[in-house]
Amino acid sequence: MLKRPPHILVTAGPTIEPIDPVRYLTNRSSGKMGYALALAARKAGCRVTLVTGPTVLKAPAGCRVVRVKTAAEMREAVFKELPQVNIVIKAAAVADYRPAQMAPRKLKKSATKLTLKLVKNPDILKELGRKKRPGQILLGFAAETHDVLHHGRKKLVEKNLDWIAINDVLKKGAGFEGDENAVTLVGKNGVVMRFVKQKKSLLARKLVRVILGR
Ligand code: CTP
Repeated sequence: MLKRPPHILVTAGPTIEPIDPVRYLTNRSSGKMGYALALAARKAGCRVTLVTGPTVLKAPAGCRVVRVKTAAEMREAVFKELPQVNIVIKAAAVADYRPAQMAPRKLKKSATKLTLKLVKNPDILKELGRKKRPGQILLGFAAETHDVLHHGRKKLVEKNLDWIAINDVLKKGAGFEGDENAVTLVGKNGVVMRFVKQKKSLLARKLVRVILGR
């Protein structure tokens, strides 16, 4: 009997956390790395579901796309898909905090200072690590500015991951927004692979090959 191709869930892009009907908090993620990973996984013969925050990118051909805005919506979409999924690649830059309340009406300017109260968002990847089924593979990303390898490895352990792709976001031309990226991939077995700066599409193909064990 033919084995079914693996089903990969990829998350991509930023999340946006509303302050009022016209303003929100977000980050500099373009979604390009996650979309490249989704396309690479599809081209490698996988079934792919892409859960994406708001981006301007074209949906990758052949992937099922679920669009979300906030971290809470991303969490809900991810856990809805999880029972059908063999591999999760968590490339999204999830906002760690959200405004405690969304004001129902536009905040008008009055005082010279405005303090926003933020509350913590759920750590989706950490929860995935806790709920991981035997055989399910989890690849997380780490965006770091200092002690890059140390912080990346810490996330690998604390979030119970199989792999972590560590981004040095201060390195020129790597990480957020651009078309190129350089990562260090660390496996839970201790293996360390360095991928020099290259097109995100090429890097995505290499990362997919490693996690598929090809
Ligand atoms: N992540 C997540 N949910 C969050 C925050 C992060 O699922 N609320 C995931 C990201 O998708 C990424 C990984 O966790 O795969 C690491 O994200 P990163 O922003 O580097 O780290 P944090 O865990 O948020 O820690 P810190 O911001 O303190 O570095």
